[in-house]
Amino acid sequence: MDKVIIFDTTLRDGEQAAGAKMNLQEKLEIAKQLEKLGVDVIEAGFPISSPGDFEAVSTIAREVRTPVICALARAVLQDIDRAWEAIKEAPHPRIHVFLSASDIHRIYQLKKSREEILQASRDMVARAKKYVDDVEFSPMDASRTEPGYIYQILEAVIGAGATTLNIPDTVGYAIPAEFGSLIEGIFKNVPNINRAIVSVHCHNDLGLAVANSLEAIKRGARQVECTINGIGERAGNASLEEIVMAIKTRGDFFNLTTNISTTQIYKASRLVSEVTGFVVQPNKAIVGANAFRHESGIHQDGVIKMPVTYEIMDPKTVGISASRLVLGKLSGRHALKERLAELGYSLTEEDLSRVFSAFKELADKKREVTDRDIESLIAEEQRTVSEVYHLDRIQVTCGDRGIPTASVKLIAPDGQVLADAALGTGPVDAVYKAINRIVGVPNELTEFSVKSVTEGIDAIGEVLIKIDSEGVTYTGRGADTDIIVASAKAYMNALNRLLAVKK
Ligand code: KIV
Ligand code: ZN
Repeated sequence: MDKVIIFDTTLRDGEQAAGAKMNLQEKLEIAKQLEKLGVDVIEAGFPISSPGDFEAVSTIAREVRTPVICALARAVLQDIDRAWEAIKEAPHPRIHVFLSASDIHRIYQLKKSREEILQASRDMVARAKKYVDDVEFSPMDASRTEPGYIYQILEAVIGAGATTLNIPDTVGYAIPAEFGSLIEGIFKNVPNINRAIVSVHCHNDLGLAVANSLEAIKRGARQVECTINGIGERAGNASLEEIVMAIKTRGDFFNLTTNISTTQIYKASRLVSEVTGFVVQPNKAIVGANAFRHESGIHQDGVIKMPVTYEIMDPKTVGISASRLVLGKLSGRHALKERLAELGYSLTEEDLSRVFSAFKELADKKREVTDRDIESLIAEEQRTVSEVYHLDRIQVTCGDRGIPTASVKLIAPDGQVLADAALGTGPVDAVYKAINRIVGVPNELTEFSVKSVTEGIDAIGEVLIKIDSEGVTYTGRGADTDIIVASAKAYMNALNRLLAVKK
């Protein structure tokens, strides 16, 4: 069977989603999970766009060895040189050059003629080719470009050495049948097309990104660009898990395969959600909390008798464990280790010790520790590893008569213990003001939400916040059985991200 190349752009287009900024350590962690997932190509970033992006791409290029590591570049000399600089240590490097092709972009944004665009595309692919054999080219806004002009550009860039031709539906405007015809037209009208792989990159503005990508595959495209949980610019990109599971579940229809280890999907989804702070909607296909839950009596009856009656996929195939085993305060380190392994985590002994003591603390407060609790614990542990300031303790008084008051102790980067206190309109406000008095970085809280990880009065509360500083949004998450402590942790998490960027 033919293979479809899975090109993941969570770290590049995914990070372009408003409020999805990730730090270096988080990007590296996601890249390593993508490697475990078996993606063929990781688009690690856009090196010219910022020193932080450059550092992230070059670190991933050095440390993630199996997939192709791709860097994005405009059709501009400096971009291409910088992209190469960032990926040159990767065992399999790729430069991805893009340039707008549609009249709309060309006339209103670039103010360039068709001839100039054609020339720059050809020249810049040739420039990238001097550095590396694996060169991808994207005529941006292809779905709103006259097909005849696209054919011309594609022929020219293949001649200049492009090995992958990516057809972006940049603004999510295409309709499946129409997009499929464009792909078919490319195969019929670009004479040297057999020298390159045709790829697609679909945005989800009309909710059609996955449908358009699948239609393109049906018409011969053999690379799909997608992101975990479908995150990305505006309404996002095609979701990797939906594309991969459609190809797998409907093998009878597509007759295609991918290199993806599907049992790693759920873990990748949770990780990206944790890192970005983007909650996955419950009804999201494949990875949503309800994706494999049956509520109606008739459906439950059917699934008990034979799962295939109402389940087209086995949840275990995407890494959702079916284990009913619940851990509690008497469970030992070995039981936790086994449970973690079943959930797809392999921790070092040192990390396991930290997670185990957090687990014991939680099990003292909570009768049953579920899989979601364990995932939340792991995420909380990972958040504290990359801290600049560490939250040591907080103390709050509040109620309907008194003035909410908080005192906090933080550990500074040099190890100094710093304490302060503040009054607020409520306990969370008081905590945030006290923290601000110590950290002293101006910012504005723009979003605050609390949800419980599981049911029950003893559930862990997860707090998600967003803060703005100098026009940039930073997300923070924190989890604890005490929601004021969770709120403080979330604020510290957002501030630490902000401080890391400023540093
Ligand atoms: O959406 C788009 O057109 C892009 C290109 C850079 C491929 O992200
Ligand atoms: Zn895009």
